[in-house]
Amino acid sequence: MPVNKKLLVTLGLLSIIVFGAMTTTKPQDEGFKNLKVLPKNISGENLHKVMEDWSHSLGVHCNFCHARNEETKKMDWTSDAKPEKEMARDMFKMMNKINQKYFHAKKDSLGMIMQSGVNCNTCHRGTAHPEVMVPDGKGPGGPGMGPGPGGQPGPPPGGPAPGAPAPTKP
Ligand code: HEC
Ligand code: HEC
Repeated sequence: MPVNKKLLVTLGLLSIIVFGAMTTTKPQDEGFKNLKVLPKNISGENLHKVMEDWSHSLGVHCNFCHARNEETKKMDWTSDAKPEKEMARDMFKMMNKINQKYFHAKKDSLGMIMQSGVNCNTCHRGTAHPEVMVPDGKGPGGPGMGPGPGGQPGPPPGGPAPGAPAPTKP
């Protein structure tokens, strides 16, 4: 029937328009007021994922970076009162730079640099303070470092150690 066909076409067009309008207005900002490094239009769900990820990587709770408003007795997520929050921003920028420059990471649909090389956990591994550790020379007296504390002295310089078999050629 011609009438029904027309109706179907109209409905079809209408749904395209409605759907299109929905998808273009969907990723609106969720009212986060103080985003300087994350995308301003990040969804609440994605922001939460990032925050959980940072917390787990550092082995801390939200209040490690976020201050509480003592008057309202509520967390003040927008506040920059804690220096750890600013540090986290710097860390995020550092991480992006490393991934972009040295791992040639692309951006995802939100415009975030993909974590294809390093992420917070690469260094932090569940602690807020990854100490700078000097790699310990393995074996008797690490190469060029002399005998370690309590370690065995290395072989005397020049020539094989006494008792070692002479080098033979097959
Ligand atoms: C390692 C530090 C750190 C931890 C831990 C952390 N956050 Fe954040 N959070 C930040 C930083 C930095 C920003 C601002 C990001 C920016 O500037 O783009 C932020 C922003 C936010 C915002 C947006 C505030 C606004 O309006 O601008 C919310 C909400 C938030 N965090 C919630 C949480 C929750 C919930 C947790 C715990 C699950 C958490 N955060 C853990 C560092 C942290
Ligand atoms: C390349 C290694 C590396 C990466 C990647 C890294 N960090 Fe760090 N971060 C460190 C080191 C090292 C320190 C300790 C600096 C110090 O003690 O002076 C540190 C310290 C911090 C601190 C301060 C801790 C304190 O006690 O004040 C915060 C907050 C932090 N990192 C957050 C992050 C977040 C969030 C990420 C991911 C976005 C991240 N870091 C990625 C190496 C890294």
